[in-house]
Amino acid sequence: MKLEGKIALVTGSSQGIGQAIAIRLASEGANVAINYRSNPEGAQETVAKVEASGGKCYTALCPNSQGYAVQGDIGMVDEARDAITETIEHFGKLDILVNNAGIEKHAPFWEVTEADYDAVMNVNLKGAFFATQEMVKHLMDTKRPGKIINISSVHEELPFPNFTAYCASKGGMKMFARNLAVELAPFGITINNVAPGAIETPINTKLLNDPQKLGVLLKNIPLGRLGQPSDVAAMVAFLASSDADYITESTFFVDGGLTWNYQEQ
Ligand SMILES: NC(=O)c1ccc[n+]([C@@H]2O[C@H](COP(=O)([O-])OP(=O)(O)OC[C@H]3O[C@@H](n4cnc5c(N)ncnc54)[C@H](O)[C@@H]3O)[C@@H](O)[C@H]2O)c1
Repeated sequence: MKLEGKIALVTGSSQGIGQAIAIRLASEGANVAINYRSNPEGAQETVAKVEASGGKCYTALCPNSQGYAVQGDIGMVDEARDAITETIEHFGKLDILVNNAGIEKHAPFWEVTEADYDAVMNVNLKGAFFATQEMVKHLMDTKRPGKIINISSVHEELPFPNFTAYCASKGGMKMFARNLAVELAPFGITINNVAPGAIETPINTKLLNDPQKLGVLLKNIPLGRLGQPSDVAAMVAFLASSDADYITESTFFVDGGLTWNYQEQ
């Protein structure tokens, strides 16, 4: 149990990668706040899976349940902050923040609307920024170390035509993490990014239902398969644990080798 006594908040954890992260952290002993925007059933499903994960609640501050659902739109700064404060009110403290909530919008660059640009940046970057700020204030007030883990993307490095706002948000997340790692190290706060490749989740529904596109993608993944949410969650669990105490300012790719795959036929 590497996360005994720890409290974690995972944004956007009513499905997909966020749900897998919540379950994995709980199975390592953490109490987990499950943030959702508009899918309370999904959040309750995550809570139930957290409870069944085999983890136990070890903290003296622990209430009856290992999981707790926190409603809040991470794309709205006030609600992102409130998700942090509500978690602290419920569990008494916060040790681990996973900035996972994310969206993407498909459009050629010349057709991107301001509304779609704002939607992507507000959830993927601005929400993560201010949720992290609220978490950091809490850690500084209570003079405790903490761990921040951003779920960015291979597209913090790799171009993705027709998803320019998404790439800008994830590229921004890369520098956000690098900068904070330096600024927050004196307080014992680490920050790292996990960069998934192609993971089998609802965000990829269109792709998963297009055998031709999927076939092309699979040929570009050296390990020859899509990633599973649990592949990403395993890396997050490591970074959240004391095994990663000396690790900050890095991005960890969970992509089956996709990013740096280059072959001459
Ligand atoms: N699946 C992939 O291939 C892949 C690859 C690289 C990066 N990622 C990143 O992983 C993260 C999780 O994506 P996923 O694949 O699980 O997709 P998903 O669509 O299944 O999950 C995204 C989650 O974010 C939540 N969310 C969206 N907007 C929100 C908001 N305003 N407030 C609160 N929650 C909100 C959704 O409700 C959902 O639970 C995202 O940041 C995504 O960019 C995914």
